[in-house]
Amino acid sequence: MTDRTDHLTLNVNLQAFGQRPAAWQFGDHDADTLIRPEHWIASAKAAERGLLDAVFFADQPALHNPDPRPGAQLEPIALAALLTAATEHVGVIASASTTYNDPVELAERLLGTDVVTGGRLGWNIVTTYNPAVSGNFGVDANPDRATRYERAGEFVDAVKTVWAGAAGDGGFRFDGEHFRFEGVTAVPPSAQGTPVLFQAGGSAQGRDLAARHAEGVFAVELTLPRAIENYADLTRRAAALGRRPGLPRITPGLSLVIGSTVEEARRRFDDFESRVPDSYALGSLSNVIAHDARTLDLDAPIPADILDKPWNPDEHPTSAGYRLTFLDWIQERRQQTVREILRDFGGYGARIVIGTPEQIADDMELWFRSRAADGFNLMIDHFPDGLVAFADEVAPLLQRKGIHKREYDHTTLREVIGAGTAG
Ligand SMILES: Cc1cc2nc3c(=O)[nH]c(=O)nc-3n(C[C@H](O)[C@H](O)[C@H](O)COP(=O)(O)O)c2cc1C
Repeated sequence: MTDRTDHLTLNVNLQAFGQRPAAWQFGDHDADTLIRPEHWIASAKAAERGLLDAVFFADQPALHNPDPRPGAQLEPIALAALLTAATEHVGVIASASTTYNDPVELAERLLGTDVVTGGRLGWNIVTTYNPAVSGNFGVDANPDRATRYERAGEFVDAVKTVWAGAAGDGGFRFDGEHFRFEGVTAVPPSAQGTPVLFQAGGSAQGRDLAARHAEGVFAVELTLPRAIENYADLTRRAAALGRRPGLPRITPGLSLVIGSTVEEARRRFDDFESRVPDSYALGSLSNVIAHDARTLDLDAPIPADILDKPWNPDEHPTSAGYRLTFLDWIQERRQQTVREILRDFGGYGARIVIGTPEQIADDMELWFRSRAADGFNLMIDHFPDGLVAFADEVAPLLQRKGIHKREYDHTTLREVIGAGTAG
């Protein structure tokens, strides 16, 4: 463990009703909850009360299938404008795909939103692997990972070219393999210059993209040793490119279920999970083991040949980083039955901690001081109450440990996360 003088970078992933698949069955939700501004504003205000850096939105450019659960949410850039108007400090990080956007159009949309939010916008750069997306754009399949990342690298260069134009006389010109354009923008730089850049995607190509451009990374880490290794790897890649020490800020997803006692937290978790059919978690497990988990015997371990078989990423698209950390995690569970694995797999892709505020704060401190993480992208079981519990009960403990800010002393997101000047 090392001494650190910096503070945690804390964002919260605002996932519809909450991260638990059955979250929609709790609270006072109805069919219009997700299109009601108050629903989102309540969570953004709770985030601000907990002095979080930003609220975070994933975005799949696909039509949502409401069959497993309701969850279609409003578009993140629209929500960014709404939520920054209703709060004073907390930033908004909006995911947008480099595979299914146009760089000039997206650059202007992001910069314009950053201007009206007073410099509180972040862009999470994603390349989209969800097979449901391609049909939405009239193509048979998503491009393969290599092609997506090649385009992503050029896409971000192209966006930065437009932003550099905005900071100068408005003119910009780009001449690449994928994109060629020339024009003038009337959008001025924002209060923080340009939106803060985040990135999600843990393959070698994803890390290179993050090392080159990102001020923050949304990572997936399930075990501490692998997280420490990956943290060091990304830090090395960024240093080799001459990036400022301390960037990018690495924030793995962390799923939380908070109770005032261990038993209460466990009961809360069980209450959520007992309403979820096995098929839901099995679908999630299938993605990461690259095998249809519904064919497995629930009362036997996952057969070794399934875990050990070589993975073809273009046949079974998932995140390479997520798959590796999952395979580490499952090593210790090879004797467990599929049913037991599903129970412990409750983070649905994120590491999960079910416990008291003290246990959660200690866990976060361990990861932070071990340099496994600079902070977290929090996954909250149910909004807004789970986030209010974090703000009121966990955040003060983190402050007492000296690893969480005691006030917002800056207004722009770039300053709040300590990302320095753009670039
Ligand atoms: C934690 C995490 C969050 C992601 N969020 C999104 C998202 O919101 N929208 C999207 O289209 N793709 C998202 N992706 C997909 C990635 O951009 C990328 O296409 C995928 O992870 C495969 O690349 P990888 O092997 O480098 O991880 C996400 C991936 C990860 C790991």
